[in-house]
Amino acid sequence: MGREKTGLRLGAFLYPTGYHVAAWRHPDTPADAGVNFRHFADLARTAERGCFDFLFLADSVAMRGTDMPALSRTAVRYVAQFEPLTLIGGLAALTERIGLTVSATTTYTEPFHLARMLASLDHMSGGRIGWNLVTSQNPAEAYNFGLEAHPPHGERYARAHEYADVVRGLWDSWDDDAFLRDKRSGLFFDPDKLHVLDHKGPHFSVRGPLNIPRSPQGRPVIIQAGSSEDGRTLAASVGEIIFTAQDTKAGAQAFYADMKARVTAEGRNPDEAIVMVGVLTYAGRTRAEAEDRVEALQALVDPIVGLSLLASELGGVDLSGCDPDGPLPPLPASNAGKSRQRLLVEMAEREDLTIRDLYRRVAGGRGHHQLVGSPEDIADSFEDWLADGAADGFMIMPPALPQGLDDFVALVVPELRRRGLVPDAYRGTTLRDHLGLPTPVSRYA
Ligand SMILES: Cc1cc2nc3c(=O)[nH]c(=O)nc-3n(C[C@H](O)[C@H](O)[C@H](O)COP(=O)(O)O)c2cc1C
Repeated sequence: MGREKTGLRLGAFLYPTGYHVAAWRHPDTPADAGVNFRHFADLARTAERGCFDFLFLADSVAMRGTDMPALSRTAVRYVAQFEPLTLIGGLAALTERIGLTVSATTTYTEPFHLARMLASLDHMSGGRIGWNLVTSQNPAEAYNFGLEAHPPHGERYARAHEYADVVRGLWDSWDDDAFLRDKRSGLFFDPDKLHVLDHKGPHFSVRGPLNIPRSPQGRPVIIQAGSSEDGRTLAASVGEIIFTAQDTKAGAQAFYADMKARVTAEGRNPDEAIVMVGVLTYAGRTRAEAEDRVEALQALVDPIVGLSLLASELGGVDLSGCDPDGPLPPLPASNAGKSRQRLLVEMAEREDLTIRDLYRRVAGGRGHHQLVGSPEDIADSFEDWLADGAADGFMIMPPALPQGLDDFVALVVPELRRRGLVPDAYRGTTLRDHLGLPTPVSRYA
């Protein structure tokens, strides 16, 4: 099963209110979106109607922005929201085909817990789960787990490598046909088809086996989104989908070529590591209507919010004493997200942007690529990036929800279908089917 490898892969990045920082103030957006289950259910159904390969829920195990200087009660940037694994469980029951992907941190969780939850969800959804393996971006997460700061970047990635190995080993605990459940003979499972992991490493000691049978996809799909040297190494070794924030086509092409080469060097098939670029899309029936969509949101950005958003996107730096109409000051190296800081600093230098220009820029896409235009404009750009080796697909980041997703499905999806870039209907049932990814062979096979 599965669709042709040449198709355009589509993911829907469902930040509760939408990706734009002021989205919660948009007249059509429910202000309680983060905890409005009906809102998420509607979004999931809309994305499924558009035959998105998957929807994606980001995560942080802390509120964001509450420790920023000069933060006022009006300066809400990030909404309080559902824990996403819990939310995915609900959405699995309300959808049939769409893949369901979610971030979970390797820095502040244990691999046994996560392997078990993801395998459970893969069973419950009929094989539609993907895990975005993150090492935690938000510095405030550390305070919730007995630390004053994240462990150093390299250490987080070293733990993540071992974590991924343990999780995959646990997912292979049982052969696909291990459970006989034969009432007549009294044999519940075949002991020859049970594998005890017995992992002992620098970060984890995990005996196993996992207390759930092997899941429909064999293993849920693994996603990686790091762009630093360490992040790329991890993505090349375990990433079946690789998310990236790229603001120019040339940058995306360089990233794409580098990642495919790294995946090949790991002895993997480069088609089995799908590079997906995040894109903020403002679609309108005409270009003018799309531009109106942008202005409607930009007009809602509070300056304090803009400044604190930029400070956190730069890796938690303090910009409070800076002149918003001056350039960025020299910045300390970030322990939180090296690639994002570099991307923004380079963008500011290249385009001679002030702090105010830059926060207006990140208010929407936060360094992700942005497309504003008619369905034809957006489809042309996708086709161009696809043909020129810049991406295998796109993570659509609707600026405000539900409007941005409704517009994309009503306007852009029909145009993509007309061009044969995306199918009219799901052909398979699992996330691996949709993406054309093989079922992984167990390490014990
Ligand atoms: C599309 C996308 C989604 C991401 N989602 C999350 C997330 O939910 N939680 C998180 O902590 N980090 C998330 N990240 C951040 C990455 O995991 C990573 O920390 C960041 O890209 C910096 O990578 P680096 O540390 O290798 O430079 C996301 C990144 C991208 C591009």
